[in-house]
Amino acid sequence: MARDDQTDTFRPGPEHVAIIMDGNGRWAQQRGRPRLYGHHAGAKRVRDIVEACPDLGVRYLTIFAFSTENWKRTQTEIAGLMGLFRRYIEREARDLCRNGVCVRFIGDRVKLEPKLVDLMDNLELMTAGNTRMNLTIALNYGGRDEVTRAARRLAYEVQEGRIKHDEVDAEMLARFLDTRVLPDPDLVIRTSGEARISNFLLWQSAYAEYEFVDTLWPDFTPAEFATVLKSYTQRDRRFGAVKA
Ligand code: FPP
Repeated sequence: MARDDQTDTFRPGPEHVAIIMDGNGRWAQQRGRPRLYGHHAGAKRVRDIVEACPDLGVRYLTIFAFSTENWKRTQTEIAGLMGLFRRYIEREARDLCRNGVCVRFIGDRVKLEPKLVDLMDNLELMTAGNTRMNLTIALNYGGRDEVTRAARRLAYEVQEGRIKHDEVDAEMLARFLDTRVLPDPDLVIRTSGEARISNFLLWQSAYAEYEFVDTLWPDFTPAEFATVLKSYTQRDRRFGAVKA
């Protein structure tokens, strides 16, 4: 927490942090290695950052692992990434459970291979009762796709007469999103020096703070994470209002 000199109060750190983990490919390229080598290094970083969260006061961490647009990559890279996600779940499941992490996946599972979806479902079930920390992994996720799927389900409810069209408001739509049980992110971090949001949590990040860091994801240490969280506490969040 950081001290606010004007009000003599402490501003808390972010409860929900979302991360666009960018730069694995360039990290590998700098070492003359294939892109998948960078993704493997990135997966190790995921482990470090997840482990650091409880001590840093982060109760919700949401990470962007694969976007609805990432299918445009080569078959080799896509297959490599899917294999990496499977192995990550197989290898980390026990520790995630032991460390009290509740894991959820967001995104459209329809296009994902059944073996991976089974592992995702099992991990969600296995960790559902955990309360120390919440890890959400966005896999085949796109913000526009998520809102479109929510609107489609909502339209169906209206068609079936279970909801009246003039009852639909933002709060109701949010209940149809993949993130329905999560608070909105307070802080969105993107690594690798790119300053764009790439279709990540479009609805949920309406009032999030953003931090763009130059570090490539495989080099993003828990120490740098802690520094970014600290700088968040200096920010003045007004949510459209005027400071009293
Ligand atoms: C973006 O970097 C990264 C991805 C599309 C994949 C993210 C995946 C991981 C961090 C690996 C493991 C994740 C889990 C959940 C186990 P990029 O490939 O676009 O990098 P570049 O911009 O330098 O090419």
